[in-house]
Amino acid sequence: MTPSPRCRVLCVALNPAIDQTITVPGFQSGTVNRAASSRQDAGGKGVNVASCLADYGVPTAVAALLGRENPALFQTLFEAKQIADYSLYLDGATRTNIKLVDPEQGDTTDVNLPGPAFDAASVESCIARLLTAITKQADALEWLVLSGSLPPGWPVDVYAIFIRLARELGLRVLLDTSGAPFAAALAAGPDLVKPNRDELAAHLGRPLPDLAATLAGARELLATHAGIARVVVSMGSEGAVFVSRDKAVLAQPLKVAVTSSVGAGDAMVAGLVAAALASLPLGNTARLATAFAAGKLQRPGPHLPAAAEVQALAQQVGLVPLNNPPE
Ligand SMILES: Nc1ncnc2c1ncn2[C@@H]1O[C@H](COP(=O)(O)OP(=O)(O)OP(=O)(O)O)[C@@H](O)[C@H]1O
Ligand SMILES: [Mg+2]
Repeated sequence: MTPSPRCRVLCVALNPAIDQTITVPGFQSGTVNRAASSRQDAGGKGVNVASCLADYGVPTAVAALLGRENPALFQTLFEAKQIADYSLYLDGATRTNIKLVDPEQGDTTDVNLPGPAFDAASVESCIARLLTAITKQADALEWLVLSGSLPPGWPVDVYAIFIRLARELGLRVLLDTSGAPFAAALAAGPDLVKPNRDELAAHLGRPLPDLAATLAGARELLATHAGIARVVVSMGSEGAVFVSRDKAVLAQPLKVAVTSSVGAGDAMVAGLVAAALASLPLGNTARLATAFAAGKLQRPGPHLPAAAEVQALAQQVGLVPLNNPPE
């Protein structure tokens, strides 16, 4: 596909996946089972973020690592949403995460297939190609989104490498990952980070049992990393806290009929970028990001309702100012 020339956001998707959901009433292992239905969605965090941004009308590009054996679902999504495709096509297949859903017993069995295999040389070559892709688009780009886990064998500091390049190129960076890649990337100074509460607790090495502890945790990230302008900690059905250097606000979740909670955080990340592109202040950023999440929750895949509906949802988001000073 020919990439469209002026994308404002590039979403890097190092570890995309095909989500396959197979409904098998009365599933039993070790026997022949008959499936009632099956659906496949192109997924993975970076792809989800790009999909939601494109739905909102933001010119978006994606750089995913895709296997040559099964790229069709991704290419169909990118074409349908006019997402410019800077993906690297590699030998092998993109991993498929199979969910066997048994509505009779009410449980789910997961089978996660491996993705493309990497050795040190292929990782190095992929990183070099991705750095070139970012650099080539840098004139039009404003934001780089780094979200999701790393494929096996990738160095934990790869996001830090991308952030340092983004800094040189004058791009802003949103980081949404966890564990060692999160810790390594923080030192490079992303502009915006969106851990969920569990991810932040794991990073800080202590539980964050309530709102006060979560806010203190977000403020600790700001205090210990000079480059970070805002920290957003999402708390599932309890909403999210949005923290800048001089303000903090809790955005209450919208009461919506939840069809699928998968990717709510990714939609929130897309909303954060859309808000930043519109230079929104913290409160309206919290409203829009929460509306993105709520819009996605009503749908099975990483898709948003029309932009006008998202904006109407944003008007309904309740905000609670959090003014307690850091301890
Ligand atoms: N059950 C729910 N009801 C209402 N809003 C929800 C619910 N779950 C999530 N949300 C909204 O979505 C936002 C992000 O959700 P969450 O904290 O689960 O993200 P996450 O853990 O990063 O998810 P993922 O990484 O799987 O996409 C929340 O801050 C909230 O606004
Ligand atoms: Mg998340």
